Amino acid sequence: MNPVESAVEPEIDQAPLDGKVRLLDPHTINQIAAGEVVERPASVVKELVENSLDADARRITIELVDSGQTLIRVADDGCGMSPDDARASLQRHATSKITHVDDLGDVRSLGFRGEAIPSIASVSRFTLSTGDDDGGRTTIRVEGGQIVSETRVAGPRGTEISVEDLFFNTPARLKFLKSASTELSAILEHVMRYAIAFPEVAFAVTHNGQSAMVTTGSGDLHQAIAEVWGRDTARGLAEVAFEFPGLRVSGFVSPPHMTRPTRAYQYVYVNGRPVRSRTLTASLDQSYRDLTPERRYPVVVLKLDIDPQKVDVNVSPTKSEVRFQREGEAFDAIRTAVRSALMEHGMMPDAAGIAAANEALKWSASPGLPHAPGLPLAPMNGGEGHWPSFVAQAPLEGDASASPGAAPSGFVRDAERYPFSELLEGLRVLGQAMKTFIVAETARGIVIVDQHVAHERVIYEYLCGLKGPTAIERQALLAPETLHLNRAAALILRERLEEIVAVGFDIEPFGGESFVVRSAPAALRGKSPIKVLQDLADELVDGSVTRKLTPTREQIWIMSSCKMAVKAGDALSIPEMEKLIVDLASTENPYLCPHGRPITITLAREDLLRKFDRA
Ligand SMILES: Nc1ncnc2c1ncn2[C@@H]1O[C@H](COP(=O)(O)OP(=O)(O)OP(=O)(O)O)[C@@H](O)[C@H]1O
Ligand SMILES: [Mg+2]
Repeated sequence: MNPVESAVEPEIDQAPLDGKVRLLDPHTINQIAAGEVVERPASVVKELVENSLDADARRITIELVDSGQTLIRVADDGCGMSPDDARASLQRHATSKITHVDDLGDVRSLGFRGEAIPSIASVSRFTLSTGDDDGGRTTIRVEGGQIVSETRVAGPRGTEISVEDLFFNTPARLKFLKSASTELSAILEHVMRYAIAFPEVAFAVTHNGQSAMVTTGSGDLHQAIAEVWGRDTARGLAEVAFEFPGLRVSGFVSPPHMTRPTRAYQYVYVNGRPVRSRTLTASLDQSYRDLTPERRYPVVVLKLDIDPQKVDVNVSPTKSEVRFQREGEAFDAIRTAVRSALMEHGMMPDAAGIAAANEALKWSASPGLPHAPGLPLAPMNGGEGHWPSFVAQAPLEGDASASPGAAPSGFVRDAERYPFSELLEGLRVLGQAMKTFIVAETARGIVIVDQHVAHERVIYEYLCGLKGPTAIERQALLAPETLHLNRAAALILRERLEEIVAVGFDIEPFGGESFVVRSAPAALRGKSPIKVLQDLADELVDGSVTRKLTPTREQIWIMSSCKMAVKAGDALSIPEMEKLIVDLASTENPYLCPHGRPITITLAREDLLRKFDRA
């Protein structure tokens, strides 16, 4: 008989285990797994928050005592568990999220390994209290991996997990913990990432009874960023919204002059999961290449949504790494999306302008150097002029308004970036040329300013709040006027009404495709508000047709500032021109209009003299 045919092939997991090679007991297996996934209190918080999010919670509260070492309690209003599921969840490899190896290719939940709960329970005193829609709640207490009690009482839907005395039975791990404040910030760091990933979920964190972080769950990403990182940081960010076939990039990025000394303010997500990815980091670096000074990093929240089948999340036990089927595609998508957002924000000057600005930064940072050379509208050395100093805003260390617990470090207000203080030395407006350009003299030479783009930049910075939370000045109309639009324009205007109101119009839907307008931004001066709104609506429709997306806040700001600004051909008085230049000098970027066009041209004194053979 053929020996191969006669052999009974044993199943691999039915091999006899009575020799020297034996299976470990479940508790030991869990503790070993805990070594990978439960490194510190922050990992516990991460796993529990992920479970709450997977359970579709709308509200997640996190209570910490002693930076999580004494207590971590995470409560949610998610789907909860039946008594059987509650018991099952404590077992290793028990999960409701995948059933088969093939599912690994299509993971849509944050968890899928079925090991977080048993791992945490094996290294703590653990209490799970949970209930689904049947009105009862199951409470199971586990100590060092052993169930010590189970009770059932009436209670609402949702889950609460308490982890007490973490690592009480693994003293080696306990020894590796860092200082209380380091562990606490590691926890908050995780929660901040999730709070921004899920703006529709309200998060509340308390530490030793005091509130450490709160988000409202408004559903608005920009608001979530403001709640987590502080209003000042959020305000300057440009919206990113770009769609590629099978891939969508959305979020917010800072203009190149708003940077931090570390990558701590770069949150990148793939399908809602905070990830670390070399590819994506490299792509961000590429996007800002030559735009930011060396070793400074832009502030970034970027969400990449991609077909789950095209990305592998089963790379590490903590699930924070991903591999893309096509790394190059993800790389290009991020770069294209970020660069075009910067372009839209008027923050993508040509290479020469940026090099000059960086050079200026370097010079202005070194005391004793007279002035920054090479800026398009650079300051000159010289005595006190009658113009005020424009570095009145001293560099601000840290966001004073940042929410507690989110105190960012090393954030330097970018006013110091451009040494404007001397910009207007000796400025004298000579007059208006071609009813389009302001011609002025400064100590440096002759300056020509495009009045429309200059005004556009000034209004734009007011609108997007770069100049602080200034209210836009409104002017009531003598009588309310009615705006009639076509269907597409009305639809889009209604959708973005809040932004239009923020720009300075008092406008309300008035049935059908009509709106009533009661006041308009004072900046419009003599222009007809109805005409401006009509143009704006048309342009919004245009933009959304070509880009297949609803217009971003930036687009609305850019279009509005363009519509409100003085036009080429508008006559301006000398005081009006002087005011415009003073306003321009205090903008964050006086070199480029929000569309990226140059605002100012300088004919340097030396150049003029040389050209006339006077040098
Ligand atoms: N807050 C919760 N609300 C509802 N169900 C939960 C909650 N936490 C855990 N569960 C259930 O318990 C199961 C086990 O959770 P556990 O975190 O151990 O594994 P997982 O989330 O499936 O995978 P991973 O180990 O990758 O996190 C989950 O699959 C889920 O069904
Ligand atoms: Mg989990």
